[in-house]
Amino acid sequence: MNIIIYDLMQDHRNIARLLVYMGESVQWIKEGNSEAHILLLRNCVEYLKTYPEEIHHPKENAIFDQLGIRDGVSKSMVDRLLVEHQYLARKTKSLCEVVNAIECDQIVSHQKLVEVCADYVEHQFRHMRDEEDTVFPLIEQKLTVTDWKSIIRVMPAGEDPLFSKERKKYYDSLYSEISNSYQYHKAR
Ligand SMILES: [Fe+2]
Ligand SMILES: [Fe+2]
Repeated sequence: MNIIIYDLMQDHRNIARLLVYMGESVQWIKEGNSEAHILLLRNCVEYLKTYPEEIHHPKENAIFDQLGIRDGVSKSMVDRLLVEHQYLARKTKSLCEVVNAIECDQIVSHQKLVEVCADYVEHQFRHMRDEEDTVFPLIEQKLTVTDWKSIIRVMPAGEDPLFSKERKKYYDSLYSEISNSYQYHKAR
């Protein structure tokens, strides 16, 4: 497998772990509204705003654009996924607004938080599945060495601040919560 596609799929696995954890943390907030859980939810949203939105999707955009150039038949699929990236960015913004409102003690029903979060998680999962089932295999099949050289010239770089070895201190507690939750589910 191409190393860049491998890395994107690894990002998907990590984002999936975060989304599962986020869904759980919202349930805890619904039940107890603890400040600690709200802070962890804030950390989740900050991560989604930075790494997936600023690095993962722009990387994919560079690759998808090149696939559209190389293979006219893939163009409509590529365009749909590029539009979805913009749609997901708006969804992340809406989620962030709900979390901001909770932090500012504005009245947000727990039901609303659960709904916004569930909708967000579902869209992200569907998007990642779609990429892996449709466009990633085509990328491996169609792109040439010259295509990859062009992609690398424009593709953004940046370490994952939560799941890489270079984890930022800000994310230490979120990372350990996600790991504990993962271990817990594995043991059941
Ligand atoms: Fe994507
Ligand atoms: Fe992706």
